[in-house]
Amino acid sequence: MAPHKLHALLYLCSCLALVYPFDRQDLNPVAHLKSSVWLNKVQALMNASNCGQTKIPRGNGPFSVGCTDLMSNYTKKSTFLRLYYPAKGDNRSDTVWIPNKEYFLGLSKFLGIQRFMGKILQFFFGSTNIPASWNSPLRTGEKYPLIIFSHGLGAFRTIYSAIGMELASQGFIVAAVEHRDESASATYYFQDQCAAEIANQSWIYFKIIKQGEREQYQRNEQVRQRAKECSQALNLILDIDSGKPEKNVLDLDFDLKQLEGSIDRNKIAIIGHSFGGATVLQALSEDQRFRCGIALDAWMFPLGDEVYSRIPQPLFFINSERFQYPDNIEKMKKCYLPDRERKMITILGSVHQNFADFTFATGKVIGYMFTLKGEIDSNVALNLSNRASLAFLQKHLGLQKDFDQWDTLVEGKDENLIPGTNIVTSSQNACLSNATGVNST
Ligand SMILES: *[C@@H]1O[C@H](CO)[C@@H](O)[C@H](O)[C@H]1NC(C)=O
Ligand SMILES: *[C@@H]1O[C@H](CO)[C@@H](O)[C@H](O)[C@H]1NC(C)=O
Ligand SMILES: *[C@@H]1O[C@H](CO)[C@@H](O)[C@H](O)[C@H]1NC(C)=O
Ligand SMILES: *[C@@H]1O[C@H](CO)[C@@H](O)[C@H](O)[C@H]1NC(C)=O
Ligand SMILES: *[C@@H]1O[C@H](CO)[C@@H](O)[C@H](O)[C@H]1NC(C)=O
Ligand SMILES: *[C@@H]1O[C@H](CO)[C@@H](O)[C@H](O)[C@H]1NC(C)=O
Repeated sequence: MAPHKLHALLYLCSCLALVYPFDRQDLNPVAHLKSSVWLNKVQALMNASNCGQTKIPRGNGPFSVGCTDLMSNYTKKSTFLRLYYPAKGDNRSDTVWIPNKEYFLGLSKFLGIQRFMGKILQFFFGSTNIPASWNSPLRTGEKYPLIIFSHGLGAFRTIYSAIGMELASQGFIVAAVEHRDESASATYYFQDQCAAEIANQSWIYFKIIKQGEREQYQRNEQVRQRAKECSQALNLILDIDSGKPEKNVLDLDFDLKQLEGSIDRNKIAIIGHSFGGATVLQALSEDQRFRCGIALDAWMFPLGDEVYSRIPQPLFFINSERFQYPDNIEKMKKCYLPDRERKMITILGSVHQNFADFTFATGKVIGYMFTLKGEIDSNVALNLSNRASLAFLQKHLGLQKDFDQWDTLVEGKDENLIPGTNIVTSSQNACLSNATGVNST
């Protein structure tokens, strides 16, 4: 490999590690790159790995998976989402993973690196596809439960495809929302119909919020907006389901009329990662149509104190081992109130990034070094999270499937799981590993 290309790869891998800069126990890779010893070490390791390679797994369920994007209406207030759904027997892998160059630019801004690096990211990942057939017809003849999915800080709608495709392959329709609260690396809208017709996109990039007094206030504003956007996305899907004519301003080859009568309207849940995990809690507290929620390695900081007592729905925390810290766990514990169904598990050897697609985007060694991967195999980790989620969803949405075969995972029974958390907190009143939800404090 030519030296300049090696350098590019090197930077690329260090960039990806920062996509969620929350893994507090980990080294800062950029600081380390400044040392040439480190540089050599990394080069040697990169030699032995396959950096730049992406192997986002196909869903394990019985259905083929289709994918499309949907934007309704104009301006920042429009709804924008990526839809994963059971498809009609099609088995293509022609869905572009990260479909616009601006997302790479946004990532570079989010990561605080030069725009040039965004171009490198684009070079390596701009033509990566995921195993879902783009605009494939919906598999009809059945009503599907609906999942609204909320992404993390610096992320966007397309990079949780491994989760979206798994759920779709198991018979869910998944709407992965793209948030317009300036927490996404990048997102876009059309100002009006004319702009849409000439494809004049208006881009919103990640906004840097400095630590300080107003940080909590601003994050709280964002999480509220995010919850509203989830409810608005739900409104849109339910409107389409009930036959209201809705137009996709993206003008794609997927007829929205197929979705008419396709949603099991009583079986709706919300899932999110990190900032999206906080969004799950906020949305549950505001919108009772969400029958239950799953918070993947939730970042609790944005939430106001009033939220914890306002969530009557069942709630499942799936945590990584490395990301969690006492403050965050204390806040989760505040949701544990009498007669409320609460579950928590921790995936051993996992990191914050194990839930997003980037965990599959780099070679084993590099992924591990930069904490895109944990000590646990990325497929095994996500598989555990997905199967535990399916079991939880079956129970609380009342599904007639066989996901209850994984009920024990919800209790943390697996060699790679523990019930509750690995984090010791000062609070005396709740032992999460013991809390079954009902009647626990
Ligand atoms: C990388 O591997 C090649 C052989 O595949 C070897 O010649 C080269 O010295 C290795 N470079 C480093 C830095 O280990
Ligand atoms: C789209 O937005 C316009 C104004 O922003 C509003 O008048 C119209 O009702 C919206 N259309 C739909 C289908 O929501
Ligand atoms: C889809 O493709 C995968 C791998 O290429 C294969 O294992 C699977 O059986 C295919 N499914 C269908 C329904 O064709
Ligand atoms: C695209 O939209 C922006 C903002 O709405 C506007 O300022 C610009 O003139 C438009 N560009 C074209 C080519 O219409
Ligand atoms: C993931 O789970 C499925 C069952 O849904 C199983 O067939 C598959 O072997 C598992 N893969 C891994 C890597 O654990
Ligand atoms: C679980 O709760 C019981 C009593 O409710 C207590 O005796 C036991 O020590 C607890 N287990 C753990 C692991 O804290």
